[in-house]
Amino acid sequence: RIAGPSSVVIFGVTGDLSRKKLMPAIYDLANRGLLPPGFSLIGFARRDWDDQDFEEEVYQAVKQYARTPFSEEVWRHLAEGIRFVQGSFDDDDAFDTLAATLHELDRSRGTGGNHAFYLSIPPGAFPTVLRQLQRSGLVADAGDAWRRVVIEKPFGHDLESAQELNRLVGEVFPPSSVFRIDHYLGKETVQNLLALRFANQLWEPIWNSHYVDHVQITQSEDIGVGGRAGYYDGIGAARDVIQNHLLQLLALTAMEEPVSFEPKDLRTEKTKVLSAVVVPKDQAGIMAATARGQYAAGWQGGAKVPGYLEEDGISPDSTTETYAAVKLEIDTRRWAGVPFYLRTGKRLGKRVTEIAVIFKRAPHLPFSHTDTEELGSNALVIRIQPDEGTTIRFGSKVPGPTMEVRDVNMDFSYGQSFTEASPEAYERLILDVLLGEPSLFPQDEEVELSWKILDPIEKAWDRSGTQPEQYTSGTWGPSSADDLMARDGRTWRLP
Ligand code: BG6
Repeated sequence: RIAGPSSVVIFGVTGDLSRKKLMPAIYDLANRGLLPPGFSLIGFARRDWDDQDFEEEVYQAVKQYARTPFSEEVWRHLAEGIRFVQGSFDDDDAFDTLAATLHELDRSRGTGGNHAFYLSIPPGAFPTVLRQLQRSGLVADAGDAWRRVVIEKPFGHDLESAQELNRLVGEVFPPSSVFRIDHYLGKETVQNLLALRFANQLWEPIWNSHYVDHVQITQSEDIGVGGRAGYYDGIGAARDVIQNHLLQLLALTAMEEPVSFEPKDLRTEKTKVLSAVVVPKDQAGIMAATARGQYAAGWQGGAKVPGYLEEDGISPDSTTETYAAVKLEIDTRRWAGVPFYLRTGKRLGKRVTEIAVIFKRAPHLPFSHTDTEELGSNALVIRIQPDEGTTIRFGSKVPGPTMEVRDVNMDFSYGQSFTEASPEAYERLILDVLLGEPSLFPQDEEVELSWKILDPIEKAWDRSGTQPEQYTSGTWGPSSADDLMARDGRTWRLP
């Protein structure tokens, strides 16, 4: 579907996310013919830019990061609708100028009064911007036109701040106009999880505690904190990735089949499963079910890399974790007794996100022990990125005179099965905002439930007074994470 007449205002337009993801995604949408003819993009920031400077920034971002080939014609057309409004968030005049700019674009480019306000800014600035949008009449009832707000993470710092934020946003925008971004939900491979589970007969009968031994959800990165010290330090791996991306993956893996793919039905199942997630209640239990680490100097890709504490902008006594692993359980008939192990970290062995469903071993193996030594459990591995696809691991006879059985892989790879390249997550999400399609955006309740799961863990870590364990860059994380698995007689998969 093609978006109707509309414009997008980006707050925080000088930031990394805007340059690397948002501007290229908007160009890619234009290039695919999914934006309306008069579409307009307005940047709002303190930087001393004019329209031309901003246009040049967008151009450079598009040249460097867009997925689709560059077309001079598409670019020219898009550039005609690019504007910049200079000011700080508490500057009434700047917001009045923004309102005037949007109204002018409504007239000259036919954007129809439909405006999406994209807050790619620190949460501390949300109240001011929301108030300003209200004060300048930008969210007032606009007849048939729509006004939507898009909110980037982090959505709060804990349950209490998330609730406060939800309340605040709710004072200015009705729930149907609020789009909270979790960019993992925009990924094709994440959406495919639902197709894999509910479009096939194969998996559902064995998708339960009778057949599944445990589930491992991994999001690992080889990069360090990079230029994001200001954002990352004080947040840490668990709040940065587990609270949102990994709990969303858990919800999609574990939820029941929705009655339909209508947003409300999807949400019902996701919130149901998230509210059944349990962590051990006491401090000792939480400490035993979790692990934290911080990367130390090491080697990556043949280059020496500094430890977290030596990174620019990080205090040398920071206790922020760059690796986190947690063991969760889900109190439902389907999942009772099946642990879900979640882990994420920076400066690990390689960049990979995957969901591995590990099945129980066959109850009886009619082979001699030595013939099956190399046989593991069956596994279904959903490769979210970078090598998108699905792998099934199963035992197979090794050709030869004995009945030796060994694990082999059967593979589906996006690249081989589909000729179309997957759109970038942000492309899909921005398009859905313009279309008013809420399925891929977590609602307030989901966000709050996720904080409810994480809060006791963060509190136990704080109370313990322990430091995250150092792990060498380029390895697979702290040894306490291996101990966590070893206590259950299991090991982490090597992706
Ligand atoms: C972001 C986190 O939400 O996700 C980053 O803030 C992380 O720290 C990123 O690097 C990972 O996203 P992706 O799509 O590269 O897996």
